[in-house]
This record gives sequence, structure tokens and C-alpha cells, in this order.
Amino acid sequence: MMCKAGKFKRAISVLVCMTSFAVFLTYSWDLSLPGYNLWASPVCACRKCLTDGDPWFRMLINTAPQPFLSKDHNTSEVDFNWWKRLQGEKRNYTFYVGTLDRLFQIIPPIPGVVGPSPSRCRSCAVVGNSGNLKGSHYGRLIDLHDIVIRMNRGPTKGFEEDVGRKTTHRVMYPESATRLDNTTRLLFFSFKIKDLLWLQIHLENGIKSTNRGANKDLVMLLNPAFMRYVHEAWLKKKGRYPSTGFLTVALSMQMCDEVNVFGFGADKDGNWNHYFEKLGNQIRTGPHPGKQESEVIQDLHNKQKIHFFVPQ
Ligand code: C5P
Repeated sequence: MMCKAGKFKRAISVLVCMTSFAVFLTYSWDLSLPGYNLWASPVCACRKCLTDGDPWFRMLINTAPQPFLSKDHNTSEVDFNWWKRLQGEKRNYTFYVGTLDRLFQIIPPIPGVVGPSPSRCRSCAVVGNSGNLKGSHYGRLIDLHDIVIRMNRGPTKGFEEDVGRKTTHRVMYPESATRLDNTTRLLFFSFKIKDLLWLQIHLENGIKSTNRGANKDLVMLLNPAFMRYVHEAWLKKKGRYPSTGFLTVALSMQMCDEVNVFGFGADKDGNWNHYFEKLGNQIRTGPHPGKQESEVIQDLHNKQKIHFFVPQ
């Protein structure tokens, strides 16, 4: 028969074992590393991958055209005709194809988007320019991501505490261009042929005479067919065409296994400002379906596909 002290010792050791196991589980959850993560999905090495579960979501992702243009993935005339209406392009398809051919003599081939793999967890932070980032202290969290995609002129210098310091990719078009450092990938969104000609001139001339420039080896051109897919499949053709921010969220869902979205929406007082400048109080989303875009992002968050960070 076991004495009282023996029973007590046994209970303590069981308790210690259970606590250690619980600590281990929590630790492995937090690490999100392959080999350590008991919850790792078979699709990728994150604890939850974008395309886990929900067939409707997987289908939406899998039916996307190649997000980037390349010598091998050119635009069809049908997609060109959709794209040329965005900003009233007058020139024809032949001129467009010729312009791209010249650009691809400057820009080297880029690796296409690689699908998920069980041995890799690629986390992405998509950082919009919303004033709600001010005072958010998200900087460190943003910098923990493998890929940090920023947009337009959104600066980091002086705002590190709230927006981080890392930028692996920056989305730009001519009107929003800023100078990139030599290691940042340029995700170039063109809305008319003039934009492509602008890029050609800037890449040919280098960065000598302007404050806009990029490493020509790191340029990726968004495919008009992808813009059309986002407009039709994600936004159900609402508005004239998707905003830069929404296109970037859709793009990140092709590039990443885990997507976290920061800096979208009005600030805490309801103003549509940038974190680095005041724009006024009105919510203006121009030709873009702002309401629809916010609803889709919120819905993806509610369904735990992406995580949408809004500071409290
Ligand atoms: O203003 P800008 O176009 O440079 O911002 C980039 C993106 O950040 C927008 O397309 C939008 O998606 C997001 N944004 C936002 N709320 C703001 C400002 C920007 O959601 N107040």
C-alpha cells in the first residue's frame, strides 16, 4: 500500500510533467518553426497556411493568373482591353507589346511566384499608409516578417517604432514613386502605357538625375490580367478598379503563406490620413471601391485567412 507521502510525490510529478508539456506546447506554438511546431500544416511550415481548409478560398487563390509579367507571361489582348480603360489609354495592343519587349531587354527574368511548400513558412506584412499606424508600436512586429511590403511614399525613417525599418518590397507607380535602396524589390503597378515608358526611361538613365530610382534587377511588373482578376474575383467588379492597397493584399496572398495586414483604414478619429502627413478629414477612395475592399479584408480576417491589425 502506498503511503500518503508517496501519493503526494506522485501527484506532484504528474503535475510537473503536465506543466512542462503545456509549456512545451505553448513554446512550439509561439515558435512557428518547422520541426518544433506540433500544429504545422501539411501545406506549409506555418502553424496555419493561407490555403489550409476552405476549398472556396483555395480555388480563388489557385485561379489567379501569374501576378507578374515576364517574357513568357505576357498580356492577352482581352486583358489589355480591360486594362486600357482604367486610365483612358489610347494606344493599341501592338504598341503595348512593343513597349514591354523593350522593358524586358532592361529587366532580367525574375523568379515566378513559388507555391507553398511543407518545408517553408513565408510570412508577409502588408503595410498600408493609414494614420492608424501612428502610436501603434507595431514596428517590431512588422520587422519580424520575412517579407515586408510597403506602398508608395510611406517612409520608415522617423516612424520606426510604429512601422518598422525593414522593407523588402515596395509598390509604386510613377505618380507615387520614391527612391528605393539597392536591395528593395520594386513592385511596379502600371495603369497606362505612359507608366511603362516612364519606367523604361528611369531604368535606362539610372538614378543619376532624379530622386526616383530602383535596382533594375529587382523590378517586378504587375500583370494587368492579375488586376482584372482581383477586380472580378475579389471585388465582384465593384468600383472602376482596385486600389493599390487592395491589389497588394491580393498579391501577398499569392506570394506568402501567412499574411498580416497593417496600416489600412481610417485612424482612430475616423480620418483618412497618412501616418506621415495629414490629408484632411474626408474619406476619399476615388475610383476604388473602398467600402467593398474594407469588407473583403475584414471578412478574410474574420475567417482567419489573413490577420488585419487595427490598433485599439
Ligand atoms: O494613400 P496611399 O495610396 O499611398 O496608401 C496606400 C494604401 O494604404 C491605400 O491604397 C490604402 O489601401 C491604404 N490606406 C488606408 N487608409 C488610409 C491611407 C491608406 O487603408 N488612411
